[in-house]
Amino acid sequence: MGTVILGIESSCDDTSAAVLRDRVLLSNVIAGQDVHIKYGGVVPELASRAHQQNIVPVVDTALKQAGVQASEIDAVAFTRGPGLLGSLLVGASFAKGFSAGLGIPLIEVNHLQAHILVHFILESGGEDHAPAFPFLCLLVSGGHSQLVLVKDHHKMEIIGRTIDDAAGEAFDKCAKLMDLPYPGGPHVDRLAASGDPLRFKFSKPRLEGFDYSFSGLKTSFLYFLRDQLKEDPGFIEMNRSDLAASLQYTIVDILMNKLKRAAKKTGVREIALAGGVSANSGLRSAISEEAEKQGWKLHLPAFRFTTDNAAMIGISAYYRYLKGEFASDEIAPLARMHF
Ligand code: KG4
Ligand code: ZN
Repeated sequence: MGTVILGIESSCDDTSAAVLRDRVLLSNVIAGQDVHIKYGGVVPELASRAHQQNIVPVVDTALKQAGVQASEIDAVAFTRGPGLLGSLLVGASFAKGFSAGLGIPLIEVNHLQAHILVHFILESGGEDHAPAFPFLCLLVSGGHSQLVLVKDHHKMEIIGRTIDDAAGEAFDKCAKLMDLPYPGGPHVDRLAASGDPLRFKFSKPRLEGFDYSFSGLKTSFLYFLRDQLKEDPGFIEMNRSDLAASLQYTIVDILMNKLKRAAKKTGVREIALAGGVSANSGLRSAISEEAEKQGWKLHLPAFRFTTDNAAMIGISAYYRYLKGEFASDEIAPLARMHF
């Protein structure tokens, strides 16, 4: 019959629940939180309150859509971290209660590892696109930008990370300077499609090794806009698409540069992309082009698995379940969590 796992994700501003039977996804329900839009960013207190309101209906819907009774679930998994503490607490408390109530094991999952493991999810009737180990994953989200050498489902080594802002943050903060709504990444992507990527030049970091930095780019974008607005108050409005295209081009170039070097240095030719920013069309085309040139075997996640979702928590938990790695009911969430 297989192992049925209920996964819960609540690390930021999406409440999500998913049901998997072994690697096969049966349902994946996500409730977003519009309450943050007018603040231009996620407000932690509002996020935890919305999670509290959403979690029961979201889990209920996930079970119904999967056609699974609570009594059929073999284990319940939750995101332990990293993330917003108040948000994480809602998912962790729910999972603990569910585990105690049904007398089933509790499994903790690292949110970042989970983004990477989306490549192992199977959809009924779909093909198996699982990467072979070891593979190199460019993990780019709103909170993290990392190059990860994935040795197996549990052993992952971060070989490069951002020393300041994440790639998603660079998209969002620069988008805010252009008066675009939060989160700005998808808006920049959309505008960039009709803009000139080489029209404006912004600063790129000169860092040794595989680490990233995006704060210099954000500052150069800010100063550039400030100078142009002094001359012409309508500058942003008149040049929105070119600004978006040039910004996206620069972020993608920074990301690709280190990825290419890491692939060369490690000799790994199996390459994967994960995290919210992996939905970006500029990044997807750049990595696909490079894969063709270098003969990489490339793994791009399906769009619905790029941003936060509980399917990724469920698949990560499945591999822990197989190893019998269960959490105690005293486990606490962690705002910062490494692997
Ligand atoms: O992984 P995620 O859902 O949440 C975190 O764990 O951080 O990533 C959210 C980030 C946001 O910064 C958002 O702007 C960015 O992913 N994002 C994009 C696109 N879609 C989402 N950035 C650029 N282009 C996109 N199409
Ligand atoms: Zn995430």
